[in-house]
Amino acid sequence: MKMARLTPIVLCLIACQYCYGFNGDSFELECPDECDCHYFRINWVTDCSESNLTEVPYEELSLSVYILDLNGNNITSLQPFPSEIKMRRLQIANNRLTRVDRDAFRGLEYLIDVDLSGNNISYVDPEALMDSHGLLNVELQDNPLSVIEGPFLISGTLQFLDISNCNISSLNQQFFQNITSLKSVDLSNNPLRALPESGVFDSLTSLETLKLNDCKLSILAENLFSALVNLKYLELAGNYLMNTNWPEVLGTLNRLEFLNLRKSGLVSLSEDAFSNCTNLVALVLAENELRELDVAATLGSSVNHLELLDLSNCKIQGPIGGDSFANSSKLKSLYLSGNPLFAPDLQEALAPLPKLEKLFLSNCGLRNLPDSFNVFENLLELDISHNPLVNVFTRLLAPLEKIEYLNMGYSNLSYIGPQTFAHMTSLKRLILSGNDLLSLEAGLFGNLTQLTTLELELCGLKRPLNANAFFKNLTYTDLREIRLGGNPLVIPATGPLFPKQLSQVTVLDLSNCNITSLNPDAFKNTENLTELNLAGNRLKSLDESLAFLELLQQLEKINLSNNNLTTIDPQFFVNNPKLHSINLIGNPFVCDCKIAEMWDWANMIKGDLDVLVGAKSAEKDIVVKGNKKKKNLYCRYNEAQLRNMTLTANKSVPGRRPFVKPRELTYANRTWAKYVRESGCEPVVKILRPVALVSDLFKMKNVDYAPSPAFVLAIIAVAFGVTTVIMTFRLLRKDKLISEIDTVNNRKER
Ligand SMILES: *[C@@H]1O[C@H](CO)[C@@H](O)[C@H](O)[C@H]1NC(C)=O
Ligand SMILES: *[C@@H]1O[C@H](CO)[C@@H](O)[C@H](O)[C@H]1NC(C)=O
Ligand SMILES: *[C@@H]1O[C@H](CO)[C@@H](O)[C@H](O)[C@H]1NC(C)=O
Ligand SMILES: *[C@@H]1O[C@H](CO)[C@@H](O)[C@H](O)[C@H]1NC(C)=O
Ligand SMILES: *[C@@H]1O[C@H](CO)[C@@H](O)[C@H](O)[C@H]1NC(C)=O
Ligand SMILES: *[C@@H]1O[C@H](CO)[C@@H](O)[C@H](O)[C@H]1NC(C)=O
Ligand SMILES: *[C@@H]1O[C@H](CO)[C@@H](O)[C@H](O)[C@H]1NC(C)=O
Ligand SMILES: *[C@@H]1O[C@H](CO)[C@@H](O)[C@H](O)[C@H]1NC(C)=O
Ligand SMILES: *[C@@H]1O[C@H](CO)[C@@H](O)[C@H](O)[C@H]1NC(C)=O
Ligand SMILES: *[C@@H]1O[C@H](CO)[C@@H](O)[C@H](O)[C@H]1NC(C)=O
Ligand SMILES: *[C@@H]1O[C@H](CO)[C@@H](O)[C@H](O)[C@H]1NC(C)=O
Ligand SMILES: *[C@@H]1O[C@H](CO)[C@@H](O)[C@H](O)[C@H]1NC(C)=O
Repeated sequence: MKMARLTPIVLCLIACQYCYGFNGDSFELECPDECDCHYFRINWVTDCSESNLTEVPYEELSLSVYILDLNGNNITSLQPFPSEIKMRRLQIANNRLTRVDRDAFRGLEYLIDVDLSGNNISYVDPEALMDSHGLLNVELQDNPLSVIEGPFLISGTLQFLDISNCNISSLNQQFFQNITSLKSVDLSNNPLRALPESGVFDSLTSLETLKLNDCKLSILAENLFSALVNLKYLELAGNYLMNTNWPEVLGTLNRLEFLNLRKSGLVSLSEDAFSNCTNLVALVLAENELRELDVAATLGSSVNHLELLDLSNCKIQGPIGGDSFANSSKLKSLYLSGNPLFAPDLQEALAPLPKLEKLFLSNCGLRNLPDSFNVFENLLELDISHNPLVNVFTRLLAPLEKIEYLNMGYSNLSYIGPQTFAHMTSLKRLILSGNDLLSLEAGLFGNLTQLTTLELELCGLKRPLNANAFFKNLTYTDLREIRLGGNPLVIPATGPLFPKQLSQVTVLDLSNCNITSLNPDAFKNTENLTELNLAGNRLKSLDESLAFLELLQQLEKINLSNNNLTTIDPQFFVNNPKLHSINLIGNPFVCDCKIAEMWDWANMIKGDLDVLVGAKSAEKDIVVKGNKKKKNLYCRYNEAQLRNMTLTANKSVPGRRPFVKPRELTYANRTWAKYVRESGCEPVVKILRPVALVSDLFKMKNVDYAPSPAFVLAIIAVAFGVTTVIMTFRLLRKDKLISEIDTVNNRKER
């Protein structure tokens, strides 16, 4: 009987033994000593980022490497990669490369993405990427490219090119001639000053996105963009374009949907400026001194698809004409933030916009609100943050019965009358952050029965939410999210932090709240939390300090970054079976075997190292254009350990990849990944040692009855069978999926 129960376990364990190393990866491929390698989906990732490398470890690379990450090292030059390497993505951002020669990427036929940003590259051979017939994306931003003669690159497939901030001062006529498949080019932050000749962009007929922000541009040839028939998205912010002939420059762009002219020195706009851009949906004119803009005339009847207009910080003076928006009846979102406004004018100007859904009036010097908001029958979102509002204006907000989003943050409010929100029964998100609300009136939120999110960050609150602010007789079933970050909370020594009315809250932000400890019952009334943010507090690794976790059986995500934890133990999380994300970055962890235990727990019990944020490159680090600077989990050796480690390093532990070359430890900071490898910490027996377990089982059984050798052999044979099946399946799956390229899906086009 016993044997029948045990057999499946034994089989499983034996099968696991063959399919997985303790690193949780199948089929370990070659991996350079300094690097962490793992599968991302089915692709072999070699992560050598921030590893103090001075050269590419060419000889130790697997030929099947799919993604090679060398970001943040000290690499100064490139040699040819081994021929036959199947690399798809190469990341060498933030190194010290100075040139890219013809041979650097020779033979890289499979290459799709190259990231060379943040180096010291002044020369790129135009033929450097000729061998990569599937090339899609090149990042070269933040390099001193300066002067480019002739074609910049030759590639028939390249779609995305970022050459922003490269000190390029002119674009020759051949620059884009041999990269005609481009869909998106970012040229921002280059001192171009003038583009007086047309023809530069003429070969880019597929281009959809063009960014020319902050290029010191004052001159644009009239037909500069005339060939860009597919352009949808154009950014020209931060230039000096007061003398531009807009009707000519934009005349052919009738597919244009988004135009950004923020801070471009505009002082006036002719009536026909955008008249040919009949598909324009969003127009940003913010931060131009459009004192006398005739909105009605400029937007006229031609731009009649316009849904979003941003006129923030345009110094629009005096009254905006009563008919300013008479022709913009389709407008849904209007940004008037940062213009000095008076309530009565505003009321008049907005009268023709009954369809308006979103109105942004942040930082307008408003002391009062328009007298009757009742014209905005459809207004769903209102931002009146950063205005010196006087405390009581209940009556003025009263007509907004449909409003769903109200931002009254940073508005100098120290008191909010108890009736203020009494009629906003549709309100879903209320932001009161940044007001010195030392206390909240009884019943203030009482009628907000549809509220889903309440934000009270930086309000000087000492007590978490008081029960009085809500009606006693109600449970707020929709209220799911409460943000209290940045309040100097005083946590009671016993009892729950939140009243019973908030029992349905699932997302709670208590970051930067000066919390040193939380009692075990802290979340007793809010035990169904799924996401808890405790970042930036001062929690320590004392016995009871994480005892509050015990009640939170639904918890999925916890952020404990930047606290004062020195050690951590998987035991803390035994009552949180749904937990799939733990952020422990930025704590002063001491390097000890508990760290290896957490690592093994994430890998083996949770089945995914990504549970520990920052343990290895997570999915978000692998997408193109992601943040190059990784946030890793670190621990620190103390001096005595450091001395001992030199002796014990390279001790090989079953299941952990040993170092090939002898290593010397000269510094105390280690990433968890490196520490786990070099620590010599044994995998935890009870969860991690199938071999030991199997032999234990047999020993134990020997006491009961002796299994015949034939039986043991049979088990082993079956185990091999299962293993073979699993491995074959994996191989097949791998072959099938290898052609599936995640690059394009993950790419952010803009
Ligand atoms: C690169 O080398 C310099 C000195 O040679 C050193 O100061 C710096 O820390 C190194 N950077 C990295 C990321 O290893
Ligand atoms: C790189 O090496 C220098 C000195 O050799 C050391 O101070 C630094 O911490 C190392 N950085 C990393 C990320 O290993
Ligand atoms: C970049 O390269 C130039 C020579 O091309 C050199 O003079 C300069 O010091 C380098 N800058 C850095 C930050 O390494
Ligand atoms: C680059 O483009 C020009 C003009 O289309 C063409 O004549 C030339 O052959 C191209 N060069 C390469 C190497 O494809
Ligand atoms: C604007 O569109 C009209 C009609 O499509 C066209 O005749 C005119 O040439 C366009 N303007 C410019 C500057 O291309
Ligand atoms: C709550 O809203 C209802 C319906 O709008 C209203 O009748 C009632 O007076 C409000 N309650 C309070 C306390 O303001
Ligand atoms: C709950 O109490 C408030 C006053 O405290 C009252 O206005 C409201 O009508 C009551 N609601 C219900 C559903 O009893
Ligand atoms: C944070 O808490 C400590 C006591 O734990 C207290 O002395 C300090 O004043 C608090 N800081 C703030 C900003 O309230
Ligand atoms: C938490 O959720 C469970 C299941 O949905 C429910 O039975 C329980 O009442 C909830 N707890 C609270 C405090 O609402
Ligand atoms: C962290 O804890 C240590 C003692 O464990 C203490 O000396 C230190 O002041 C704490 N740091 C903070 C920011 O609270
Ligand atoms: C260092 O090694 C010595 C001798 O092996 C041992 O007695 C001592 O406990 C070790 N110290 C630490 C901090 O591991
Ligand atoms: C050690 O790690 C901490 C936390 O990541 C970091 O702030 C510190 O600069 C590192 N020290 C060295 C010498 O690398």
